[in-house]
Amino acid sequence: VVNMDIENIVGTAGAAPSVHNSQPWQFAVDHGDILQLSAAVDRALWVCDPSARFLYMSCGAALMNARLAIRVAGGQPDVWLLPHPDYSFDVLARIHISPGSPPTPEERELYDAIPRRRTNRGPFTGQPVPEPVAAAMRDAAHAEGAELHTLDRAETETVLAASAKAGSELAATPEHRDELRRWIDTGSDDGIPAAALPHQAASQPAPVRSRDFLGAARPAAPGASGGRSAGPAQGPKVEYERSPRLSVLTTAEDEPEDWLIGGQALERVLLTATASGLSASFLSQILELRDMHEDDPPHWEGPANPQMIIRLGYATEPAARAPRRPVGDVLDWRRPAPAAQAS
Ligand SMILES: Cc1cc2nc3c(=O)[nH]c(=O)nc-3n(C[C@H](O)[C@H](O)[C@H](O)COP(=O)(O)O)c2cc1C
Repeated sequence: VVNMDIENIVGTAGAAPSVHNSQPWQFAVDHGDILQLSAAVDRALWVCDPSARFLYMSCGAALMNARLAIRVAGGQPDVWLLPHPDYSFDVLARIHISPGSPPTPEERELYDAIPRRRTNRGPFTGQPVPEPVAAAMRDAAHAEGAELHTLDRAETETVLAASAKAGSELAATPEHRDELRRWIDTGSDDGIPAAALPHQAASQPAPVRSRDFLGAARPAAPGASGGRSAGPAQGPKVEYERSPRLSVLTTAEDEPEDWLIGGQALERVLLTATASGLSASFLSQILELRDMHEDDPPHWEGPANPQMIIRLGYATEPAARAPRRPVGDVLDWRRPAPAAQAS
């Protein structure tokens, strides 16, 4: 591909956040100048994500990173989202790469933030986010065709209470717990490591996803084989910030293309936050429950077409690193298309 380090592009894409760190993406090089992004359907979470919204969001986040890596290498990525029916249904995007203009300082800054961005489920300080930083995050969402709404205090309390209720409901759903268990502390190159789980909160409702996560991470009985490693959840209870700062990322519509747009916007917001020293975690229990009960979804009073509820703030402790699949597993090199036959 036009003098590009494809392994670096795919490795950078793979640093994106994904639901339960399932990393549901697969890349292939096609026709020499096309990088194709497909859904790794065997990594879909059919219980908590029956519509595949979060699979698309995760792949959208990876696509954002790939675009930045191409730009920083001096390329121009032209993206064709959801090229079905010309390509198989699991192809989510085709990126045509051509020589481009030099990257802007903003593109460099976002790219540099990629390896530093981590989901931080620990307590934040509660120190307010300066308005210029808040504006930069709104602009980041807008630049990708989405919107970021910051909730006021009353809305935050409503969403926290609804998240806690949704989390309890999920924790009480055996299929959900079984699925979650397969992605927590796997000891493999995917899933959420025990060290990255939230602490037990001293006061409820906690601004992190604790009920179903910690329920699924319960350590095995003493003496049983396959005991799980200790994480913050096994430590003492901690106080989370009293006035968490929650934002809702929304899209214009709520179709698969919007989920890919939402994922790119999510990653751009997170990288903008990281570049300003902010950390983030997510509260997606309400959204999961809505997709699991499409016929009778739980009540949602927030802005229309929510794609993610994001908690932002200044971390009090560094986040543990979540593992990643090696590039060799994520990238398929295809044979270049045969050259045209000379007649
Ligand atoms: C669509 C999506 C949904 C997610 N939902 C949650 C969530 O509800 N709670 C949470 O703590 N983390 C959530 N995450 C964060 C992932 O668990 C995290 O990105 C993954 O474990 C990789 O870790 P990293 O972000 O530190 O690289 C979500 C991420 C994505 C992209």
